[in-house]
Amino acid sequence: MRILAIETSCDETSIALLESKNSHLKILSNIVSSQVKIHQKWGGVVPTLAKREHQKNLVPVLIKALEEARMLRKSKVTIKNSKLKETLVREEHLYKKLKKFLEQYQKPKIDLIAVTIGPALEPALWVGVNFAKALSYFWQKPILPVNHIEGHILANFIQNPISDLQFPAICLVVSGGHTGLILMKDIGGYKEIGETRDDAAGECLDKTARILGLGYPGGPIVAKMATKFKNQKSKIKIKLPRPMIYQKNYDFSFSGLKTAVLYKVRSMKPRETKKKEFIREMCREVQRAIIDVLIYKTLRAAKEFRAKSVILGGGVAANEELRRQFKARIRKELPKTYYLIPKTYFCTDNAAMIAVTSYFHQKEATKNWQKIKVNANLKI
Ligand code: KG4
Ligand code: ZN
Repeated sequence: MRILAIETSCDETSIALLESKNSHLKILSNIVSSQVKIHQKWGGVVPTLAKREHQKNLVPVLIKALEEARMLRKSKVTIKNSKLKETLVREEHLYKKLKKFLEQYQKPKIDLIAVTIGPALEPALWVGVNFAKALSYFWQKPILPVNHIEGHILANFIQNPISDLQFPAICLVVSGGHTGLILMKDIGGYKEIGETRDDAAGECLDKTARILGLGYPGGPIVAKMATKFKNQKSKIKIKLPRPMIYQKNYDFSFSGLKTAVLYKVRSMKPRETKKKEFIREMCREVQRAIIDVLIYKTLRAAKEFRAKSVILGGGVAANEELRRQFKARIRKELPKTYYLIPKTYFCTDNAAMIAVTSYFHQKEATKNWQKIKVNANLKI
C-alpha cells in the first residue's frame, strides 16, 4: 500500500510518500519546505503568512515528493472542472497551481491521502486540508484525517518496528505548540495525564530567544548558545525557577519561566544583556530549567503508571542536551524500560510522521472527503 501524507499545521509545508509491504514501512520521500525566513523578521509564526506560503509551496513540494519517490509521470489533459475549483475556493492561488499540475501529471499509484487536521494554527491547517480534499476528489482516493500530536508520537515508528513497543507507554510530546504527557495503552488508546497550562516548552525557548534578540526559531539558537557557555566562574550566576516541578500533577507551565528571563534582562543595564557571556549563561539556564522539569515529571509518570516504554516526540525533542540527559536518567532510574526518541530530523514537523500515523489508522479512511474538517484544538 502507498500513502501520500500532507502536513501544513505550522510553518513547514511537508509532503511524504510511504510504502508498506508485509507491515514493513518505507518512506519513499519526505519533503519539508521551511518558511523560517518568512517568519523570522516577525519573531514568530504569522498565521496569515503561513497560509500564503503553504499555498505557494504545496504543489512544488508535491512534485518533489513524487519525483523523489519515482512516482511522477507526465500526462496531458485539459481540466474543466468546477467542483475542483469549489474545493479550493478560498485558496485561489493554490487552485491555479494545482490545476496546472493535474493537467501535466498522471494520477500516482497511491491508495490513501492522509492530512493533519489539528491541533495547530487554523489558517495553516485549512490549506493542507483543502488541498488533500481536492486531491481525494480528483483522484478518487480515500482520505484520512490525522492528529498532529499522535503524529509526533508515532514518528518513532518511521524507523523502529512497532512490534518492539510494550504497553503501557508514557509519551512526552514537547513542541512549539504543545507540551503534554500521554498515557498510551495501545495505538489509538491515549489519555492525556498532563499538559501545559500556558506556554509550551518550545514556545518558551522561542520567546526567550526573542527577549535576548537571537532570532527565530529559538530552540536551536538557545541550544547553540548554551553549548558555548564555558565560563563556570562567571559572575552572573543566573538561577531560574523550575515551574511546577514538585507539584503532584503532570501539568506544566512555562510562561513564568519566560517572564523570569524578561525580568532578569530588565533588571540589568542594556549593555550588559548584550554581552556574549550573559546570553550564553541565560540560554544554558533556561534550557536546563526546561529539561529538569520535563525529565522529572516524565520519569515520575513512568514510575507511577508502571510504564514499560517511554516515548518522546516533538520539535524540542531534537535538543541534544535533552536527548543526552533523558537517555542517561532512564538508563539509571528505569533500566528495564524501553526508551524511544525519533531521529532529530523526525522530531520537528514533517509529513513522514503523518504518513506512518495514517498507516496505523488506515481502516478509518473515508471516501467522504466533503466531511473532513480542521480542528485547531483537537485533543489526542
Ligand atoms: O514540533 P515542531 O516542529 O512544531 C510544533 O508542532 O510546534 O516544534 C517546533 C518547536 C519550536 O519551538 C522550536 O524552537 C523547537 O521546536 N525546537 C527546538 C530544537 N529544534 C526545534 N528546541 C530545542 N532544541 C532544538 N534543537
Ligand atoms: Zn509539531
